[in-house]
Amino acid sequence: MEPVLVAANWKMYKTTAEARAFFSAWGEVAVPPGREAAFFPPFPLLSLVKELLPAGQTLGAQNAHEALEGAFTGEVSCPLLKDAGCSYVLLGHSERRHVFGEDDRRIGAKFQTAMKSGLRPILCVGELLDEREAGRTLPVVLGQLEAGLGPEPPDGGFDIAYEPVWAIGTGKVARPVDAGEVHAAIIGHLRGLGAGRDARVLYGGSVKPDNASALLATPGVHGLLVGGASLDPASFAAITRAGS
Ligand code: 13P
Repeated sequence: MEPVLVAANWKMYKTTAEARAFFSAWGEVAVPPGREAAFFPPFPLLSLVKELLPAGQTLGAQNAHEALEGAFTGEVSCPLLKDAGCSYVLLGHSERRHVFGEDDRRIGAKFQTAMKSGLRPILCVGELLDEREAGRTLPVVLGQLEAGLGPEPPDGGFDIAYEPVWAIGTGKVARPVDAGEVHAAIIGHLRGLGAGRDARVLYGGSVKPDNASALLATPGVHGLLVGGASLDPASFAAITRAGS
């Protein structure tokens, strides 16, 4: 069984000095057995965070390009991320989909490249508020899942993050029962495809120290993807330890 993954998505926050300050406070935090803490800093901080990370904690990137290399100014490749010490890469985060216009086809291509490059992709899926209100949560989420995994979904070596878009950065967290229903559908869909035997399904969207235990106790929730509350070492430590 893979450890429960508690992932810090720092988005476009923190400078070198702020990352150093985070890890000098974080240095003392003991991650409970059976849990893994992973950090997803902005690209220029990857090497520094790799150096500062305590043993057993892991590094990931927030995005990657679908080509292995090439004339793509401003982009970063999967092989380079691997070389920089990343184990993971987030793909299809809602900010990539809805702010930067990445579509399912592109995210699927990135997924293939990440797998080929020896990174463990975390494919992010999630519905908009109007899609939820129209009762379309499961078709949207499962459609993103299928498109992301591609026509030959791999046996294993990837994870999924369910992040309802209306819950990201809004303070509105999905009720554990609603998250649980979507997680169960994702897990059932993977089983049906015969894919992702070791896949964890993380929940993300306004995770805080006071809701992390209930979310982690929900069947089908195998980890958390944390934005705002991962920027502060005390609050991310509380989330990492929640319910353990
Ligand atoms: P918040 O935790 O700030 O809502 O962000 C969630 C997220 O997008 C993590 O990837």
